[in-house]
Amino acid sequence: MKYLVIGSGGREHCLAWRLLDDGSAAEVYVAPGNGGIEDRFRLDVNISNFPALEHACIDKNIDVVVVGPEAPLVDGVVDYLTEKKIPAFGPTKKAAMLEGSKLFAKQIMEKYGVPTAGHRDFTGQDSVLRHLKTVKEFPIVIKLDGLAAGKGVCVAANPDEALEFVLSSAKEDGKIFLEDYIFGEEASVLGISDGDHVETFIAAQDHKRAYDGDTGPNTGGMGAYAPAPIIDAAKLRRVRDEVLIPTVRGMKAEGIPFKGILYAGVILQGDDIKVLEFNARFGDPETQVLLPLMKNRLGDIIGASINGTLSRHSLKFERRHAITVVMASGGYPGDYPKGKPVKGLGDVSDRILVFHAGTKTENGAIVTNGGRVLNITAAADTLEEARERVYGEIDVITFEGSFYRKDIAHRALKRPMSSK
Ligand SMILES: Nc1ncnc2c1ncn2[C@@H]1O[C@H](COP(=O)(O)OP(=O)(O)O)[C@@H](O)[C@H]1O
Ligand SMILES: [Mg+2]
Repeated sequence: MKYLVIGSGGREHCLAWRLLDDGSAAEVYVAPGNGGIEDRFRLDVNISNFPALEHACIDKNIDVVVVGPEAPLVDGVVDYLTEKKIPAFGPTKKAAMLEGSKLFAKQIMEKYGVPTAGHRDFTGQDSVLRHLKTVKEFPIVIKLDGLAAGKGVCVAANPDEALEFVLSSAKEDGKIFLEDYIFGEEASVLGISDGDHVETFIAAQDHKRAYDGDTGPNTGGMGAYAPAPIIDAAKLRRVRDEVLIPTVRGMKAEGIPFKGILYAGVILQGDDIKVLEFNARFGDPETQVLLPLMKNRLGDIIGASINGTLSRHSLKFERRHAITVVMASGGYPGDYPKGKPVKGLGDVSDRILVFHAGTKTENGAIVTNGGRVLNITAAADTLEEARERVYGEIDVITFEGSFYRKDIAHRALKRPMSSK
Protein backbone atom coordinates (compact mmCIF):
# COMPACT_ATOMS: atom_id res chain seq x y z
CA MET A 1 0.00 0.00 0.00
CA LYS A 2 1.05 3.55 -0.68
CA TYR A 3 0.07 6.29 1.73
CA LEU A 4 0.13 10.04 1.63
CA VAL A 5 0.32 11.74 5.03
CA ILE A 6 -0.72 15.40 5.03
CA GLY A 7 1.13 17.74 7.38
CA SER A 8 4.62 18.74 8.44
CA GLY A 9 5.00 18.18 12.18
CA GLY A 10 6.28 15.55 14.58
CA ARG A 11 2.85 13.91 14.47
CA GLU A 12 3.14 13.39 10.73
CA HIS A 13 6.69 12.05 10.95
CA CYS A 14 5.46 9.62 13.60
CA LEU A 15 2.47 8.53 11.45
CA ALA A 16 4.78 7.93 8.49
CA TRP A 17 7.31 6.06 10.65
CA ARG A 18 4.62 3.83 12.09
CA LEU A 19 2.96 3.00 8.75
CA LEU A 20 6.35 1.83 7.45
CA ASP A 21 7.56 0.20 10.67
CA ASP A 22 4.53 -2.06 11.22
CA GLY A 23 4.37 -3.16 7.61
CA SER A 24 1.17 -1.26 6.76
CA ALA A 25 2.89 0.59 3.96
CA ALA A 26 5.35 -0.09 1.19
CA GLU A 27 5.78 3.64 0.66
CA VAL A 28 4.70 6.71 2.60
CA TYR A 29 4.76 10.15 1.01
CA VAL A 30 4.36 13.21 3.19
CA ALA A 31 3.10 16.61 2.02
CA PRO A 32 4.87 18.86 2.74
CA GLY A 33 6.73 16.84 5.41
CA ASN A 34 9.95 17.92 7.11
CA GLY A 35 13.62 17.05 7.34
CA GLY A 36 12.80 13.69 8.93
CA ILE A 37 11.24 12.46 5.70
CA GLU A 38 13.52 11.22 2.95
CA ASP A 39 13.68 13.75 0.13
CA ARG A 40 12.14 11.48 -2.47
CA PHE A 41 9.05 10.93 -0.29
CA ARG A 42 8.49 14.61 0.44
CA LEU A 43 5.93 16.29 -1.75
CA ASP A 44 6.16 20.03 -2.02
CA VAL A 45 2.42 20.64 -2.15
CA ASN A 46 0.37 23.37 -0.49
CA ILE A 47 -1.99 21.34 1.70
CA SER A 48 -4.83 23.81 1.36
CA ASN A 49 -4.75 23.32 -2.41
CA PHE A 50 -6.97 20.22 -2.70
CA PRO A 51 -6.66 19.79 -6.49
CA ALA A 52 -2.87 19.80 -6.05
CA LEU A 53 -3.20 17.09 -3.38
CA GLU A 54 -5.45 15.07 -5.68
CA HIS A 55 -2.90 15.44 -8.44
CA ALA A 56 -0.10 14.23 -6.16
CA CYS A 57 -2.21 11.17 -5.24
CA ILE A 58 -2.75 10.28 -8.87
CA ASP A 59 0.88 10.92 -9.74
CA LYS A 60 2.21 8.69 -6.94
CA ASN A 61 -0.55 6.05 -7.09
CA ILE A 62 -1.61 6.72 -3.50
CA ASP A 63 -4.02 4.18 -1.97
CA VAL A 64 -4.90 6.03 1.23
CA VAL A 65 -4.49 9.61 2.46
CA VAL A 66 -4.00 10.26 6.18
CA VAL A 67 -4.72 13.83 7.27
CA GLY A 68 -2.66 15.13 10.21
CA PRO A 69 -3.72 18.70 11.04
CA GLU A 70 -7.18 20.13 11.67
CA ALA A 71 -7.24 22.97 9.14
CA PRO A 72 -7.59 20.84 5.97
CA LEU A 73 -10.19 18.65 7.71
CA VAL A 74 -12.29 21.64 8.66
CA ASP A 75 -11.88 22.92 5.09
CA GLY A 76 -13.24 19.64 3.70
CA VAL A 77 -10.19 17.78 2.37
CA VAL A 78 -11.75 14.40 3.16
CA ASP A 79 -14.98 15.31 1.34
CA TYR A 80 -12.96 16.49 -1.66
CA LEU A 81 -10.73 13.42 -1.93
CA THR A 82 -13.59 10.97 -1.24
CA GLU A 83 -15.56 12.59 -4.05
CA LYS A 84 -12.57 11.93 -6.31
CA LYS A 85 -12.55 8.27 -5.20
CA ILE A 86 -9.35 8.64 -3.20
CA PRO A 87 -9.81 7.02 0.25
CA ALA A 88 -8.98 9.53 2.99
CA PHE A 89 -8.79 9.05 6.74
CA GLY A 90 -10.47 11.65 8.93
CA PRO A 91 -13.84 13.34 9.41
CA THR A 92 -15.78 15.20 6.74
CA LYS A 93 -15.97 18.97 6.86
CA LYS A 94 -19.27 18.84 8.75
CA ALA A 95 -18.11 16.22 11.23
CA ALA A 96 -14.83 18.10 11.82
CA MET A 97 -16.97 20.91 13.25
CA LEU A 98 -16.60 19.06 16.57
CA GLU A 99 -13.19 20.70 16.55
CA GLY A 100 -13.85 23.59 14.17
CA SER A 101 -16.63 25.06 16.30
CA LYS A 102 -16.40 24.80 20.05
CA LEU A 103 -20.00 25.94 20.22
CA PHE A 104 -21.19 23.17 17.89
CA ALA A 105 -19.29 20.67 20.05
CA LYS A 106 -20.96 22.13 23.13
CA GLN A 107 -24.40 21.77 21.57
CA ILE A 108 -23.75 18.15 20.62
CA MET A 109 -22.47 17.37 24.12
CA GLU A 110 -25.45 19.01 25.77
CA LYS A 111 -27.95 17.33 23.47
CA TYR A 112 -26.48 13.85 23.92
CA GLY A 113 -25.67 14.02 27.61
CA VAL A 114 -21.87 14.20 27.40
CA PRO A 115 -20.48 15.76 30.59
CA THR A 116 -18.95 19.17 29.93
CA ALA A 117 -18.57 22.50 31.73
CA GLY A 118 -21.66 24.70 31.86
CA HIS A 119 -21.68 27.59 29.40
CA ARG A 120 -23.52 30.68 28.20
CA ASP A 121 -23.22 31.93 24.66
CA PHE A 122 -23.21 35.40 23.21
CA THR A 123 -23.00 37.05 19.83
CA GLY A 124 -20.75 40.07 19.58
CA GLN A 125 -18.44 41.92 21.93
CA ASP A 126 -21.09 44.18 23.41
CA SER A 127 -23.37 41.51 24.77
CA VAL A 128 -20.54 39.60 26.40
CA LEU A 129 -19.06 42.79 27.87
CA ARG A 130 -22.41 43.67 29.35
CA HIS A 131 -22.68 40.23 30.90
CA LEU A 132 -19.11 40.28 32.22
CA LYS A 133 -19.99 43.27 34.41
CA THR A 134 -22.33 40.99 36.37
CA VAL A 135 -19.83 38.14 36.83
CA LYS A 136 -18.71 37.86 40.43
CA GLU A 137 -16.68 34.66 40.46
CA PHE A 138 -13.29 34.25 38.85
CA PRO A 139 -11.50 32.56 37.17
CA ILE A 140 -13.87 32.32 34.27
CA VAL A 141 -13.19 30.78 30.88
CA ILE A 142 -13.87 32.69 27.67
CA LYS A 143 -13.90 30.81 24.38
CA LEU A 144 -14.17 32.04 20.83
CA ASP A 145 -15.97 29.92 18.27
CA GLY A 146 -13.93 28.65 15.32
CA LEU A 147 -10.37 27.41 14.78
CA ALA A 148 -7.93 29.71 16.54
CA ALA A 149 -4.66 27.71 16.62
CA GLY A 150 -4.64 27.69 20.42
CA LYS A 151 -5.40 31.42 20.72
CA GLY A 152 -9.15 31.21 21.14
CA VAL A 153 -9.37 30.47 24.85
CA CYS A 154 -8.71 32.70 27.85
CA VAL A 155 -8.78 31.58 31.45
CA ALA A 156 -9.38 34.99 33.00
CA ALA A 157 -8.28 35.31 36.62
CA ASN A 158 -10.05 38.65 37.09
CA PRO A 159 -12.39 41.12 35.33
CA ASP A 160 -9.48 43.04 33.73
CA GLU A 161 -8.07 39.95 32.02
CA ALA A 162 -11.54 39.02 30.79
CA LEU A 163 -12.09 42.51 29.41
CA GLU A 164 -8.73 42.64 27.69
CA PHE A 165 -9.25 39.27 25.98
CA VAL A 166 -12.72 40.15 24.75
CA LEU A 167 -11.62 43.55 23.45
CA SER A 168 -8.51 42.26 21.72
CA SER A 169 -9.74 38.90 20.40
CA ALA A 170 -13.51 38.83 19.98
CA LYS A 171 -14.89 39.95 16.65
CA GLU A 172 -17.63 42.54 16.86
CA ASP A 173 -20.27 40.15 15.61
CA GLY A 174 -18.48 36.86 16.38
CA LYS A 175 -19.76 34.05 18.55
CA ILE A 176 -18.23 33.81 21.98
CA PHE A 177 -19.10 31.88 25.09
CA LEU A 178 -18.31 31.85 28.77
CA GLU A 179 -17.64 28.55 30.44
CA ASP A 180 -17.48 27.56 34.09
CA TYR A 181 -13.91 27.16 35.26
CA ILE A 182 -13.15 23.63 36.40
CA PHE A 183 -10.25 23.05 38.71
CA GLY A 184 -8.64 19.72 37.97
CA GLU A 185 -6.06 17.70 36.06
CA GLU A 186 -6.26 17.36 32.29
CA ALA A 187 -5.68 14.35 30.07
CA SER A 188 -6.14 13.42 26.44
CA VAL A 189 -8.20 10.39 25.45
CA LEU A 190 -8.29 9.56 21.77
CA GLY A 191 -10.82 7.33 20.11
CA ILE A 192 -10.97 6.09 16.55
CA SER A 193 -14.36 5.71 14.90
CA ASP A 194 -15.83 4.50 11.65
CA GLY A 195 -19.02 6.47 12.20
CA ASP A 196 -20.61 3.71 14.30
CA HIS A 197 -18.07 1.92 16.40
CA VAL A 198 -15.39 3.46 18.65
CA GLU A 199 -12.10 2.02 19.85
CA THR A 200 -10.20 3.80 22.60
CA PHE A 201 -6.50 4.57 22.91
CA ILE A 202 -4.74 4.62 26.28
CA ALA A 203 -4.75 8.06 27.91
CA ALA A 204 -1.91 10.51 27.38
CA GLN A 205 -0.94 13.76 29.02
CA ASP A 206 0.78 16.64 27.30
CA HIS A 207 2.60 19.65 28.75
CA LYS A 208 1.38 22.91 27.25
CA ARG A 209 3.52 25.43 29.10
CA ALA A 210 6.96 26.30 27.79
CA TYR A 211 9.00 25.86 30.97
CA ASP A 212 9.53 23.44 33.83
CA GLY A 213 6.93 23.30 36.58
CA ASP A 214 4.21 24.21 34.05
CA THR A 215 5.29 27.82 33.94
CA GLY A 216 5.74 30.24 31.07
CA PRO A 217 3.62 30.83 28.00
CA ASN A 218 1.34 28.29 26.33
CA THR A 219 2.79 26.32 23.43
CA GLY A 220 1.63 23.67 21.00
CA GLY A 221 2.95 21.12 23.52
CA MET A 222 6.42 20.57 24.99
CA GLY A 223 6.20 16.85 25.64
CA ALA A 224 3.87 13.99 26.46
CA TYR A 225 3.73 10.57 28.00
CA ALA A 226 1.41 7.57 28.05
CA PRO A 227 -0.33 5.90 29.70
CA ALA A 228 -1.43 8.71 32.03
CA PRO A 229 -2.18 7.08 35.41
CA ILE A 230 -4.80 9.68 36.28
CA ILE A 231 -7.03 7.81 33.81
CA ASP A 232 -7.01 4.27 35.15
CA ALA A 233 -8.78 1.41 33.36
CA ALA A 234 -12.14 2.19 35.00
CA LYS A 235 -11.95 5.88 34.09
CA LEU A 236 -10.89 5.01 30.54
CA ARG A 237 -14.03 2.88 30.18
CA ARG A 238 -16.07 5.78 31.51
CA VAL A 239 -14.58 8.16 28.94
CA ARG A 240 -15.46 5.61 26.27
CA ASP A 241 -19.00 5.01 27.56
CA GLU A 242 -19.89 8.52 28.72
CA VAL A 243 -18.01 10.62 26.17
CA LEU A 244 -16.81 8.91 23.00
CA ILE A 245 -19.70 6.52 22.35
CA PRO A 246 -22.52 9.01 22.99
CA THR A 247 -20.76 11.62 20.84
CA VAL A 248 -20.34 9.22 17.92
CA ARG A 249 -23.96 8.06 18.30
CA GLY A 250 -25.14 11.64 18.54
CA MET A 251 -23.26 12.66 15.40
CA LYS A 252 -24.78 9.71 13.55
CA ALA A 253 -28.25 10.68 14.77
CA GLU A 254 -27.60 14.21 13.49
CA GLY A 255 -26.85 12.76 10.06
CA ILE A 256 -23.16 13.69 10.26
CA PRO A 257 -21.36 10.44 11.09
CA PHE A 258 -17.91 11.00 12.58
CA LYS A 259 -15.10 8.94 11.07
CA GLY A 260 -11.50 9.38 12.13
CA ILE A 261 -9.84 10.31 15.38
CA LEU A 262 -12.09 11.77 18.06
CA TYR A 263 -9.78 13.29 20.64
CA ALA A 264 -11.40 14.27 23.94
CA GLY A 265 -9.54 16.81 26.06
CA VAL A 266 -10.93 15.97 29.50
CA ILE A 267 -10.50 17.40 32.97
CA LEU A 268 -10.81 15.32 36.11
CA GLN A 269 -12.04 16.66 39.39
CA GLY A 270 -12.33 13.84 41.88
CA ASP A 271 -14.60 11.29 40.24
CA ASP A 272 -15.98 13.86 37.86
CA ILE A 273 -14.90 13.70 34.23
CA LYS A 274 -15.75 16.62 31.97
CA VAL A 275 -14.89 17.34 28.35
CA LEU A 276 -13.10 20.65 27.75
CA GLU A 277 -12.86 20.25 24.01
CA PHE A 278 -12.82 17.83 21.12
CA ASN A 279 -10.20 17.61 18.45
CA ALA A 280 -10.94 15.81 15.21
CA ARG A 281 -7.44 14.41 14.58
CA PHE A 282 -4.38 12.92 16.25
CA GLY A 283 -2.77 15.10 18.92
CA ASP A 284 0.74 16.46 18.58
CA PRO A 285 2.75 15.38 20.60
CA GLU A 286 0.37 12.71 22.04
CA THR A 287 0.61 10.65 18.84
CA GLN A 288 4.35 10.29 19.36
CA VAL A 289 3.74 8.38 22.63
CA LEU A 290 0.60 6.47 21.61
CA LEU A 291 1.73 4.91 18.36
CA PRO A 292 4.98 3.39 19.72
CA LEU A 293 2.84 1.47 22.25
CA MET A 294 0.03 0.39 19.93
CA LYS A 295 0.01 -3.27 18.93
CA ASN A 296 -2.36 -3.02 15.95
CA ARG A 297 -1.12 -2.24 12.51
CA LEU A 298 -1.91 1.43 11.97
CA GLY A 299 -2.95 0.82 8.37
CA ASP A 300 -5.51 -1.78 9.48
CA ILE A 301 -7.38 0.52 11.83
CA ILE A 302 -7.19 3.46 9.43
CA GLY A 303 -8.62 1.27 6.68
CA ALA A 304 -11.34 -0.01 9.02
CA SER A 305 -12.31 3.54 9.97
CA ILE A 306 -12.65 4.49 6.31
CA ASN A 307 -14.51 1.29 5.35
CA GLY A 308 -16.84 1.10 8.36
CA THR A 309 -15.44 -2.19 9.65
CA LEU A 310 -13.85 -1.03 12.88
CA SER A 311 -16.02 -3.33 15.05
CA ARG A 312 -13.89 -6.22 13.75
CA HIS A 313 -10.83 -4.72 15.41
CA SER A 314 -9.92 -4.04 18.99
CA LEU A 315 -7.16 -1.60 19.86
CA LYS A 316 -4.42 -3.16 21.95
CA PHE A 317 -1.46 -1.56 23.67
CA GLU A 318 1.76 -2.88 25.08
CA ARG A 319 1.97 -2.70 28.87
CA ARG A 320 4.86 -0.32 28.57
CA HIS A 321 5.41 3.41 28.89
CA ALA A 322 6.38 6.03 26.38
CA ILE A 323 7.59 9.57 26.71
CA THR A 324 8.44 12.28 24.22
CA VAL A 325 10.32 15.51 24.90
CA VAL A 326 10.17 18.44 22.49
CA MET A 327 13.43 20.23 21.65
CA ALA A 328 12.44 23.77 20.76
CA SER A 329 14.10 26.81 19.20
CA GLY A 330 15.23 29.53 21.63
CA GLY A 331 12.45 32.12 21.87
CA TYR A 332 9.60 29.73 21.06
CA PRO A 333 6.61 30.24 21.38
CA GLY A 334 7.60 33.84 20.59
CA ASP A 335 9.99 34.79 17.79
CA TYR A 336 12.86 32.41 17.11
CA PRO A 337 15.59 32.03 14.51
CA LYS A 338 15.53 29.39 11.78
CA GLY A 339 18.24 27.68 9.78
CA LYS A 340 20.39 26.55 12.73
CA PRO A 341 22.31 23.37 11.89
CA VAL A 342 21.19 20.35 13.94
CA LYS A 343 24.11 18.18 15.05
CA GLY A 344 24.35 14.72 16.56
CA LEU A 345 21.28 13.15 14.94
CA GLY A 346 23.37 10.19 13.83
CA ASP A 347 24.85 9.66 17.28
CA VAL A 348 21.79 8.62 19.31
CA SER A 349 21.27 4.93 20.07
CA ASP A 350 18.49 2.82 18.61
CA ARG A 351 16.72 2.93 22.01
CA ILE A 352 15.57 6.41 21.06
CA LEU A 353 13.14 7.49 18.36
CA VAL A 354 13.71 10.96 16.98
CA PHE A 355 10.69 12.46 15.24
CA HIS A 356 11.34 15.63 13.30
CA ALA A 357 8.96 18.58 13.53
CA GLY A 358 10.37 22.00 12.52
CA THR A 359 13.34 20.83 10.46
CA LYS A 360 14.29 20.84 6.80
CA THR A 361 17.23 19.74 4.72
CA GLU A 362 19.58 22.37 3.34
CA ASN A 363 22.46 21.24 1.13
CA GLY A 364 22.02 17.75 2.49
CA ALA A 365 22.18 18.82 6.16
CA ILE A 366 19.35 19.14 8.69
CA VAL A 367 18.62 22.68 9.90
CA THR A 368 15.91 24.09 12.15
CA ASN A 369 12.80 25.38 10.45
CA GLY A 370 10.23 25.92 13.21
CA GLY A 371 9.58 26.47 16.91
CA ARG A 372 9.17 22.85 17.90
CA VAL A 373 12.14 21.20 16.20
CA LEU A 374 12.46 17.56 17.33
CA ASN A 375 10.56 15.05 19.50
CA ILE A 376 12.96 12.82 21.40
CA THR A 377 10.99 9.68 22.21
CA ALA A 378 11.48 6.38 24.04
CA ALA A 379 9.36 3.45 25.17
CA ALA A 380 10.35 1.14 28.05
CA ASP A 381 8.91 -1.19 30.68
CA THR A 382 8.60 1.60 33.22
CA LEU A 383 8.01 5.31 32.86
CA GLU A 384 11.18 6.02 34.84
CA GLU A 385 13.22 3.98 32.41
CA ALA A 386 11.63 5.61 29.37
CA ARG A 387 12.36 8.99 30.87
CA GLU A 388 15.95 8.09 31.66
CA ARG A 389 16.49 6.93 28.11
CA VAL A 390 15.27 10.21 26.66
CA TYR A 391 17.06 12.50 29.10
CA GLY A 392 20.16 10.32 29.01
CA GLU A 393 20.64 10.93 25.31
CA ILE A 394 18.87 14.18 24.48
CA ASP A 395 22.03 16.29 24.88
CA VAL A 396 23.74 14.29 22.15
CA ILE A 397 21.61 16.33 19.73
CA THR A 398 22.40 20.02 19.64
CA PHE A 399 21.48 23.19 17.80
CA GLU A 400 22.15 26.78 18.74
CA GLY A 401 19.64 28.19 21.23
CA SER A 402 17.77 24.93 21.81
CA PHE A 403 15.78 24.30 24.97
CA TYR A 404 13.54 21.56 26.34
CA ARG A 405 11.58 20.80 29.49
CA LYS A 406 13.33 18.58 32.00
CA ASP A 407 10.20 17.51 33.85
CA ILE A 408 8.03 15.77 31.27
CA ALA A 409 5.80 13.19 33.02
CA HIS A 410 6.29 14.85 36.40
CA ARG A 411 2.64 14.37 37.33
CA ALA A 412 2.84 10.61 36.89
CA LEU A 413 6.20 10.28 38.59
CA LYS A 414 4.88 12.06 41.67
CA ARG A 415 2.31 9.30 42.04
CA PRO A 416 3.72 6.41 44.07
CA MET A 417 2.36 3.56 41.90
CA SER A 418 2.96 5.26 38.57
CA SER A 419 5.26 2.76 36.94
CA LYS A 420 3.35 -0.38 37.80
N1 LIG B 1 -13.76 25.03 31.58
C1 LIG B 1 -12.45 25.06 31.83
N2 LIG B 1 -11.99 25.00 33.09
C2 LIG B 1 -10.66 25.05 33.35
N3 LIG B 1 -9.72 25.21 32.41
C3 LIG B 1 -10.11 25.29 31.12
C4 LIG B 1 -11.49 25.21 30.76
N4 LIG B 1 -11.57 25.30 29.41
C5 LIG B 1 -10.31 25.43 28.96
N5 LIG B 1 -9.43 25.43 29.98
C6 LIG B 1 -7.95 25.55 29.87
O1 LIG B 1 -7.62 26.18 28.65
C7 LIG B 1 -6.88 25.28 27.80
C8 LIG B 1 -7.28 25.49 26.36
O2 LIG B 1 -8.65 25.22 26.21
P1 LIG B 1 -9.18 24.22 25.10
O3 LIG B 1 -10.66 24.15 25.22
O4 LIG B 1 -8.43 22.94 25.19
O5 LIG B 1 -8.87 25.01 23.75
P2 LIG B 1 -7.67 24.99 22.68
O6 LIG B 1 -6.88 23.74 22.87
O7 LIG B 1 -8.40 25.03 21.39
O8 LIG B 1 -6.91 26.24 22.96
C9 LIG B 1 -7.20 23.89 28.36
O9 LIG B 1 -6.17 22.97 28.06
C10 LIG B 1 -7.34 24.18 29.85
O10 LIG B 1 -6.07 24.25 30.47
MG1 LIG C 1 -6.79 22.06 24.04
